Amino acid sequence: MDAFHAIGPLLRLLPPETAHGLSIWALGQGLTGGMTGRNAVCDPLLESRVWGLNFPHPIGLAAGFDKNARALGPLLDLGFAFVEAGTVTPLPQPGNPRPRMFRLTADEAVINRFGFNSEGLDAFTQRLGVFCDTWSGKGIVGVNLGRNRHSAGTADYASGVSRCAPLADYLVINVSSPNTPGLRDLQTGERLEGLLEQVITARDVAISSGGRRVPLLLKLAPDLALEEREAIAGVIMESAAGGSGIDGLIISNTTVSRPGSLRSRHRDEVGGLSGRPLFDLSTEVLRDFHRLTEGKLPLIGVGGVASGRDAYLKIRAGASLVQLYTAFAYHGPALIWRIREELGDLLREDGVSSVTEAIGADA
Ligand SMILES: Cc1cc2nc3c(=O)[nH]c(=O)nc-3n(C[C@H](O)[C@H](O)[C@H](O)COP(=O)(O)O)c2cc1C
Repeated sequence: MDAFHAIGPLLRLLPPETAHGLSIWALGQGLTGGMTGRNAVCDPLLESRVWGLNFPHPIGLAAGFDKNARALGPLLDLGFAFVEAGTVTPLPQPGNPRPRMFRLTADEAVINRFGFNSEGLDAFTQRLGVFCDTWSGKGIVGVNLGRNRHSAGTADYASGVSRCAPLADYLVINVSSPNTPGLRDLQTGERLEGLLEQVITARDVAISSGGRRVPLLLKLAPDLALEEREAIAGVIMESAAGGSGIDGLIISNTTVSRPGSLRSRHRDEVGGLSGRPLFDLSTEVLRDFHRLTEGKLPLIGVGGVASGRDAYLKIRAGASLVQLYTAFAYHGPALIWRIREELGDLLREDGVSSVTEAIGADA
C-alpha cells in the first residue's frame, strides 16, 4: 500500500476541493496505488481508430479533473485511454469564491461552480511540453479551451488553438460551462458560426506553419432545446462538409437542471450538476446529435457513466468514445479497469466483434 491508498478513505472526509487538490498532488508525485501500466494489457475488441488516433479502448477522463496538466502521465497510467486536460484560459484567473464544489453523495452526483479557475496558458503549455517530451506514446491527451471571465468575443479560443495545436492530440472548444456568464450563448446562431470560423482559421495557420491538422471538437451543454440542437447540427455539418471544419462533438457538459429525484442537501446549490442524475439527459442529447449528424461525426459521450453498461449505452446511443469524471472521483482508479472489463463482456455477450460495430446501434 502506498500513500495514495492510505489517503483514499481520508479524502472522503475532506471538503471536496481539498480532496481533489490532494489527489492531483499525489498523482503528480507518481503515487498511483500500484495501479500503473494499465494500458499494457488491452482487449482487442475495445480498440478503435478515431481522428487518425489509435485508442486502445474507448474510456477517457473528462475535462476539469486535471485543469492545469499536472498529472497527465500518471492518469493515463491508471488505465484511461485518453485524458482531457483543462479547461485552460489564456490568462490565469482564480475562478469563483469557495466553496464551489459540492458532493451529493446520496445521488452519486456533484454540483460545481468553479468558473474556469486556471493557471493560464503559459504554465499549462510549459507542463504539456514536458509531458510530450517525457511521456510521448503513453496515451492520448486532449486540451479543453475556455475563455477568461472578462474577455469579450471569441479571440481567447483562437489563441488557445494557436498555442496548444502543436502539443495536443485533439482540442476542445468549450462553450458549455454554466459557470462563466454568457459562455453558453456562443453555442447558437451567428455567434457559433463566427467562433468556428475563428478557431478553424487559427488551426489552418498552425497547419500552414508546418503543424499537423489537430482535430477540433465542440463541447455542448445537455440543456439545449430541440431547435437549438438542430441549428447547431446544421452549422457543424456545413463546417464539416468541406473536410476543414469541426471534427467531433462532446456531449455533454454539466446540467443547470435539477431532477426532482435529487435527495442530497446540496441539491439547490448554483452550478452544474454531474454524475448519475445526468445520465439519461446527456444520453438522450447524444442520441439526438447522432441522428442530426447522420452518424458522420465522431461523438464523445459523457455524463453519469459509472459502469461498463453505462459506457455501452453511450456507445449504442452514438458515442465513438466515452468519458467520465464524477464516478471516478467517487470510486477511484479501480473503476476504470472494471468498466473496461464489463464493456468487453457485454460486447461478447451480444456477439459484437468490435466496439465500433456497436456505435449508434440504439440510435
Ligand atoms: C468538479 C468538476 C469540474 C469540471 N470542470 C470542467 C471543465 O473545466 N471543463 C469542462 O469542459 N468540463 C468540466 N466538467 C464537466 C465534466 O467534464 C463532464 O462533462 C461532466 O461532469 C459530466 O460527466 P460526469 O457525469 O461523468 O461527471 C467538470 C465537472 C466536474 C464534476
